[in-house]
Amino acid sequence: MAKLSVSVCGLEFANPILPAAGPPSRDGATLQAAARGGAGGLVTKTVSVVPAVVPRPCMAEIRGGFLNTELWSELAVEQWIETEYALARSTGLPVIISLGYTADQIRQVAPLVRPFADALELSTHYVGNDIAPIVNALNAAKAAVDVPVFIKLSPHPNIQEIAVALEDARADGLVMINSFGPCMSIDLETGLPLMGSKEGYGWLSGAAIKPLAVRCIYDAARVVNIPIFGVGGIVNGRDVAEMFMAGASAVQVCTEAILRGPTVYARIARELDAFLEQHGYASVDEIKGLTIRKMAERGAPQAERPPNVDMERCSLCGLCEISCPYRAISTSESALLIDKHKCFSCGLCVSRCKRQALAMAQ
Ligand SMILES: Cc1cc2nc3c(=O)[nH]c(=O)nc-3n(C[C@H](O)[C@H](O)[C@H](O)COP(=O)(O)O)c2cc1C
Repeated sequence: MAKLSVSVCGLEFANPILPAAGPPSRDGATLQAAARGGAGGLVTKTVSVVPAVVPRPCMAEIRGGFLNTELWSELAVEQWIETEYALARSTGLPVIISLGYTADQIRQVAPLVRPFADALELSTHYVGNDIAPIVNALNAAKAAVDVPVFIKLSPHPNIQEIAVALEDARADGLVMINSFGPCMSIDLETGLPLMGSKEGYGWLSGAAIKPLAVRCIYDAARVVNIPIFGVGGIVNGRDVAEMFMAGASAVQVCTEAILRGPTVYARIARELDAFLEQHGYASVDEIKGLTIRKMAERGAPQAERPPNVDMERCSLCGLCEISCPYRAISTSESALLIDKHKCFSCGLCVSRCKRQALAMAQ
């Protein structure tokens, strides 16, 4: 078994897979279920000065992803302090308390939740893309508590600039990314948006946003040295490996835990372990930032040869042939043929092959 335990700012996680702020962390009982389901640590649902008044409907599964308009916790911070945080702490796992949003709000809430927190996580979801209010919120938290303060970033367009400003302002780590939006889906039967928010908007999460999350992590990890929690679209252990390769030090899961329940953490940890074992890695830390190192070594991209075909793996299913825009692929009864004069080396067939029978020529 590969070593899955990680240490982030003194927090020891038995495995790097945590629930993200959201329904999988909505109260103490849910957090206890996450612990039983194999989470390596806990992140609590975002609290703020007042409970959220959540418009309904506020969640929908859509093709390839998930829409929500859930805001922050609908439970009062007093209830969290009286009951919910203690239940989370009873698990013995490190507890990261999420809170929002502005400097004023953080100044009020941070000292109240501090007794229950191994670290704080500040959400920038309603703070905008400007750097100053985000840094002000961080400063307010740093002045109020003595535990690590992580900042959870939305997929801001200026992510590197914000990451550097936060490291300079003594953020202890970054969490990226929050859901992406605003987005919209319409119920064809009623003609109305799926989400009950005033505008009908919702925020996208789940598998659809994973490439956005990976890119944000990769961009931030290249310009800062503080640890990054990767979040956004993790469905299985390979997704975790991908986030680590982009530069993450641990990860969080929301949508997959909503859709499949609190046993996902142990399952994802097992899959991560299987990936590491199969590829000869002794620990998950070994692949942290791998892509950043590989990209630094790589010269100009040069994949202009047709992909290699492994006929032992190929089932002649025809998926690659159907979608080849260049009509370069044909199948006979026993072989897959690629016409090197027609092949554009676009790589689509490699990405579509379920059996990894195709590989780009290196
Ligand atoms: C229904 C729902 C509620 C959420 N609530 C919060 C929240 O209170 N605070 C927060 O920082 N992020 C919240 N998020 C964002 C998630 O923590 C996470 O960043 C995002 O969904 C991407 O991860 P995923 O694809 O694994 O869901 C919420 C997401 C969903 C789907």
